[in-house]
Formats: sequence, structure tokens, C-alpha cells
Amino acid sequence: MTKKNQTLGEFIIENQTEFEYSTGELSKLINAIRLAAKVVNHEVNKAGLVDILGQAGETNIQGENQQKLDVLANEKFIQTLTKREIVCGIASEEEDSFVSINSQDEKHQNKYVVLIDPLDGSSNIDVNVSVGTIFSIYRRITPVGTPVTLEDFLQPGKNQVAAGYIIYGTSTMLVYTTGHGVNGFTLNPAIGTFYLSHPNMQFPETGKIYSVNEGNYVHFPQGVKDYIKYCQKEEGNRPYTSRYIGSLVSDFHRNMIKGGIYMYPKSSVASNGKLRLLYECNPMALLAEQASGKASDGYQRILDIQPTELHQRVPFFCGSKKMVEKAEEFMKA
Ligand code: AHG
Ligand code: MN
Ligand code: MN
Repeated sequence: MTKKNQTLGEFIIENQTEFEYSTGELSKLINAIRLAAKVVNHEVNKAGLVDILGQAGETNIQGENQQKLDVLANEKFIQTLTKREIVCGIASEEEDSFVSINSQDEKHQNKYVVLIDPLDGSSNIDVNVSVGTIFSIYRRITPVGTPVTLEDFLQPGKNQVAAGYIIYGTSTMLVYTTGHGVNGFTLNPAIGTFYLSHPNMQFPETGKIYSVNEGNYVHFPQGVKDYIKYCQKEEGNRPYTSRYIGSLVSDFHRNMIKGGIYMYPKSSVASNGKLRLLYECNPMALLAEQASGKASDGYQRILDIQPTELHQRVPFFCGSKKMVEKAEEFMKA
């Protein structure tokens, strides 16, 4: 049951019974994410005030510059989840490998692993534009009581038990699903409480917004070029409007509310596009499907893909169902 203006804390407790054999472990985990979100929100909001802007001078495993806030957000999330001993492992876009967490009291008793993109859209930090955090939760495959292995993280997205994002925008929101629809909570910064502001979020079946980095146009496959031309054509409810923030979380959030499609196709310079299957595409795909939308690599369902490596990239088409289906049609042709 969802009641508008309920706090996130109340909502978590009330909806715990949705899970069969629930021990409260997942609720505790989401509570910890809620806490980490507030800490990172605090850091993001003071980004312009303290000497925190700019690059940390290091590159992550994918050779990208890490912004200081990327490093900080990564630390805060890992610290919060580790200290509370509520997960058995964490994998992060900003870490080379996964982290195994040993519980102090009963050894390795936790059954969930978390995957995070601690700061998404980090190129927007220096210019005061919305960024986000993306998280994804799985039940481990290996037996409880043993250290986690790579296998626990390389699960197809359809195995996710929960996924969500935090958007640090004009207001800060936490949007998540545990497989029973998508709910959005807005932070009241004065008292540090998230309130249910967007119950049962749904992608409109179709929309008028397409989001893609058109600077890469000449490198796109013919199907994508043709679909973009289709979006621009004057016919029916077209031309569509082009909107691209360059922060997946923000582009997705807007498209879910207004109706639209987000695309990061493969290109002649990036054979699998840019986005990471485990930290970005799978969680967003689960949210999309739970909100009546669709997520595809152009040919198949994102959530069905069997990952082979932690930092794997995949082409991504996600948003209003009819729009993603149309893009797939063009890809096939
Ligand atoms: P991150 O900041 O975690 O590296 O992710 C950025 C991603 C995604 O959020 C965004 O939509 C996309 O990269 C933008 O890429 P381009 O600048 O190539 O368009
Ligand atoms: Mn990202
Ligand atoms: Mn990131």
C-alpha cells in the first residue's frame, strides 16, 4: 500500500511484508542506502563551496578521469554499507574489482550483494547540473557463510531483487523498485527526511522526447541514424523534442515523467557504446520495466543478458515502450 506523504522509513517498514520469508535484511539495506544518499547529497550540494571541484588526478579502471566527488561518493556508499554489515559484497564502477565483506559476529551471514555507480553524470559536477547515484541489489548465488565470488555479481539483470537511483537535482529524490512498481521519494532538506512524492511511477506508453548524444551521429549504425531522422520528421505527433543532459539518471527521470526514449547506441568508435551493463543499464532496465517502459540493447531485452565481466558495456535503448519498440524496428531493418 502506498500513501502519499508517507516517509521512506515508514514505507520500507510497511512494505516489508511484500517479500516472502522476509527477514528484514533487504529493508535494512535500503535504509542504509537512504542514509548514504543523504550523506552524498550533502557533499554534492556543497560542491561549489569547498575545494572539492575538479579532478582527483587519478583514472579509474576504464581510463576515465575520476572527479573528486566520484571518489567521495564511492567511499561514502561503501563505508555505509560495510560498517552496517548488511551486504556480503559490493561492486562499484569506481573500483577495479568487487569488495568482499566479512561480518564480524556471524561470519559472512548476509545474502545480498550491491552494485553501484556512485556518481553518474560526473562531467556535470563542475557546471552545477544534476547528477545521480545508481544502485542494484542481487541475492548471492554462492552459499551464505563463504566469501563472495565474481559469480555472485555476474547475474543477469532479471535476477535483481531491487534497484534504484538518487537524483541530486533541483530537489533530491530517491526512486526505487523491489519488483512491485516504482516509487519516488523527495528529500525535505530542512529535516533530512524523504517523503513519498511520486507513488507508482509509470512511463507514458509513448512520448515526444528523444535523448541521445547526437555529436556521435556519423558513427552510429544506419538503423539508429534512420530512427533519429524518423524522430525529426514532421508527421503525426512528430517532430519529437531532443533533450540530452549527459547524465543517464537525469535523462531517464525526465523521460519517465514526460515520456521519451534514451539511447546510447554502439558506434564505429565504441563497439558496445559507453554505458555499463551492471552499474547503469540493468538497474535502469528493471526500473523501466517496473514502470511499464522497456529497455533493450537494440535487439534483445537488457535484463536477459548474461554478463561476462564486471565493467562490461552494452548499447542501451530505454524508455517509453512504443518508442523503444520503434527504435528496435529501425535496428532490424
Ligand atoms: P558516469 O558519470 O558514471 O561515467 O556516467 C556518464 C554516462 C551517463 O550518465 C551519460 O548519459 C553518458 O555517460 C554521457 O556520455 P556522453 O558524454 O558520451 O554523451
Ligand atoms: Mn554513470
Ligand atoms: Mn559514475
